[in-house]
Amino acid sequence: MIIVIIGAQWGDEGKGKVVDLLADRFDIVSRYQGGHNAGHSVYVGDRAFVLRLLPSGIIHPDKTCVLGNGMVIDPKAFFEEVDQIAQQGIDVTPERLKVSSRAHLIMPYHRALDHTSEERLGNEKIGTTLRGIGPAYEDKAGRRGIRVADALSPDILKLRVERNLEEANRIIALFGNQPLRADEILEEITPLIERLRPFVAETSHFLSEAKKAGKKILLEGAQATLLDVDHGTYPYVTSSNPTAGGASVGAGIPPHHITGVLGIVRTYATRVGEGPFPTEMLDEEESMANLIRERGNEYGSVTRRPRRCGWFDAVATRYAAELNGFDSIALTKLDVLDALEEIKVCIGYEIAGERVDTFPAVSYDLSQIKPVYETLAGWQSNTVGVTQFDKLPELAQKYVRFLSDQIGVEIGLISTGPERDQTVILKDSVMEGWFSE
Ligand code: IMP
Repeated sequence: MIIVIIGAQWGDEGKGKVVDLLADRFDIVSRYQGGHNAGHSVYVGDRAFVLRLLPSGIIHPDKTCVLGNGMVIDPKAFFEEVDQIAQQGIDVTPERLKVSSRAHLIMPYHRALDHTSEERLGNEKIGTTLRGIGPAYEDKAGRRGIRVADALSPDILKLRVERNLEEANRIIALFGNQPLRADEILEEITPLIERLRPFVAETSHFLSEAKKAGKKILLEGAQATLLDVDHGTYPYVTSSNPTAGGASVGAGIPPHHITGVLGIVRTYATRVGEGPFPTEMLDEEESMANLIRERGNEYGSVTRRPRRCGWFDAVATRYAAELNGFDSIALTKLDVLDALEEIKVCIGYEIAGERVDTFPAVSYDLSQIKPVYETLAGWQSNTVGVTQFDKLPELAQKYVRFLSDQIGVEIGLISTGPERDQTVILKDSVMEGWFSE
């Protein structure tokens, strides 16, 4: 069994908790795109883990984790995270963490270029995480990137760093920033690469053999559908493909080996960084945004940036369901809406009075959207920790059914709090099947 987990909105849907829950039933958890721009919070008892680069499965000592070829890996961030969770009592050895030889490395000049590029864009900036993700993928597509396997050979590493830095420094200097030195980069990176060496593996082959041996594999998407470089709100996107197709390429497994796709959907929407957000709570709704932000702790788990908050957008989520082929949906953060008297759901889009039936390709068009809302009554009672659907207030059940009908996909799991056991698994759902297989 191979299941892909993907955020359906602009990220931060609560994937960490769901992956962590499902990881119990799986043998291997692999990431397939992105890097340490992600930030997953996982709560186990009174321990909180913040994971950026490592799959959420890493906190289960009996699971093997994989960083797939589609990822971009900053070796410094990698070991900071490994050391951080080691301090929290989780041992990360090469036996249980495999890094693809074909993944690309994020180098210090990528971080510098990310800063430079954002400065250059000024008001048009993307609002990136400034971790060097975009520039590393640019080098990959430009066929000058440094892959993990290349870096294992000191001569190749030196050659590529010197060559790439020459070009990077020209851009960095053009915008008045401090050029970097190749010898300093090599001095910093070489010991990290040596430390990385035992973790490096042929991960596609590893996953293929694991599948043959009947192991269950979870493919963990980072970021989310609407941040996908092809299908998201371009150019306000990340530089990789979080959508289901990206899982096959980025983990190096045949598409038909994927048995199911799970979408993670939050009961409302958020976005960090710039870019269009049709249902954003602005102006007179600002106090509602503040309420949601506080109740849902909507601040970046790594950067602490306050997230922009908005109403649930069924048009965007239908688009995500269509692109990814969700078999089931995990609906997170139901309890955050407990206090609300009324809950709005965007069920359609209009531009200049005309109904728009498909998700616009142009960000400018999306920024002109007038959402068509349906307002539902809030349940105004406590749902924290509820574990059975029929124990939820009737209006909360109605809200969940309404969202499912709007998206056209079953909701198989509802999260009613950050802890593992604060979860409803819906009877006879596809999701229940994945849990019991
Ligand atoms: P980058 O991935 O750092 O290049 O940032 C590109 C866009 O994706 C920015 O709007 C970021 O805020 C957003 N982004 C990147 N990673 C995440 C994430 O894990 N959650 C939410 N937004 C993200």
